[in-house]
Amino acid sequence: MPLDIVVGTQWGDEGKGRVVDLLAAQADYVARYNGGDNAGHTVNVGQQIFKLHLIPSGIIHPHTVAVIGNGVAVNPRVLLSEMETLTESGIDISPKRLMLSFAAHMITPAHLALDQAQETARGKAKIGTTLRGIGPAYTSKVSRHGLRLFEMLDQAKFVPAIHAHVEEINQQLTSLYQAEPLNPDDVAEELGEYAVRMAPYIGDISTTIYEALGQGRRILAEGAQGTLLDLDHGTYPFVTSSTPTSPGALVGLGLGPGYEERVIGVTKSFQSRVGSGPFPTELFGYLADRLRGTGEQPWDEFGTTTGRPRRVGWLDLVLLRYAVRINGITELALTKLDILSGLDRVLLCTGYRQEGHEFFNLPFGPSDLSGYEPIYEEVPGWQEEIRDARRWEDLPVEARSYILRIEELVGVQVRLVSVGPEREQVVEIT
Ligand code: GDP
Ligand code: IMO
Ligand code: MG
Repeated sequence: MPLDIVVGTQWGDEGKGRVVDLLAAQADYVARYNGGDNAGHTVNVGQQIFKLHLIPSGIIHPHTVAVIGNGVAVNPRVLLSEMETLTESGIDISPKRLMLSFAAHMITPAHLALDQAQETARGKAKIGTTLRGIGPAYTSKVSRHGLRLFEMLDQAKFVPAIHAHVEEINQQLTSLYQAEPLNPDDVAEELGEYAVRMAPYIGDISTTIYEALGQGRRILAEGAQGTLLDLDHGTYPFVTSSTPTSPGALVGLGLGPGYEERVIGVTKSFQSRVGSGPFPTELFGYLADRLRGTGEQPWDEFGTTTGRPRRVGWLDLVLLRYAVRINGITELALTKLDILSGLDRVLLCTGYRQEGHEFFNLPFGPSDLSGYEPIYEEVPGWQEEIRDARRWEDLPVEARSYILRIEELVGVQVRLVSVGPEREQVVEIT
């Protein structure tokens, strides 16, 4: 049964949007299953660059239906503004093309205020969140005080529910964080307006997808964030509050197991991270600047959502092997290989060393990576520009060796190599 899942294998920003855009050509439905507008997925189509935060990247293909699952946290303000931007770019965003799960939780202005207050209170120990209200919204969900999109369908109940929600969060803002409270009337008025506009899009997407699968339609599940930001399996506590890993696709879309065909692990050719937390292969100085770029190119390593410079380092195969296991990855999509062109040598982290011991797998997952020193293997670099490569044979022999070595050390085939941000800048390996 054809359910393909795209997951990030690192700390996000691996190029998932770009890979989803390629695969969406063959999909009928493209569905986001986790996270919210903390995500920033970039898709380049000719002269246009789309930066999608909430709406699945597959919406750009006119034949697809885009779905936002119950596992996503939706900020109505951001959603409606993204719908407007896409409409202005000539993309049809009618309810036939975009469906929202009634069970998705809402991110409100109160959640945004709380995210800010909590990060300020953490001081030096801050997580470096995107300040998009993600943690507080999922906290509301888990504590069973959340507001679901379902509530938007009945204004008579929705308005008092918002009042109660804002008053509850105001208590935390004022008593725990000495922050300004919000005016419940203002929030209710704003969200009340949004409810009217969103109502036609809200439905039971679990049934829709189930029936589509039964009819042999192809579903592409688009993960946000990455394996190492997963609430359960990431570098806790420096993680997000949802489930980016592949099982999140089933929970976050209301599907049982058994439909999965391909689990595509999107992996950047080097490691990057935005926000705090451990990063064993992190680089500083010249090499870091070289991998990150200066910010002049649209693909340089500066956050799509926050604009923050990303921390960068060599590819970490200990963590990639872990991601393969946790997600059940069937194939890898390796992105940004073009960025490594021009380096004399490229390093791969194959293991860690700690107090004289060598580790090739993690004893306690990635929960505490701080005490490890990476064990590197050196691979010769290549000088050629590779953005015009379209076939395996077009890649320099050193680049091919780099890919083959990754495959060997993680035990999964690389089926797609991205050599530039444009749709056609890709080498498919069959
Ligand atoms: P996502 O969050 O995983 O979708 O990734 P982002 O969109 O946040 O970041 C990836 C960035 O790299 C975007 O600017 C993409 O356009 C760009 N990109 C993706 N693949 C490639 C590639 O193979 N080469 C280059 N140079 N840029 C790429
Ligand atoms: P995409 O989908 C990179 C990071 C934040 C922070 C941590 C928690 O574009 O790959 P949150 O706001 O979620 O509570 O922040 O997670 N983070 C991301 N980093 N890419 C993302 O999404 C991210 N979404 C959240 O920087 O470290
Ligand atoms: Mg991103």
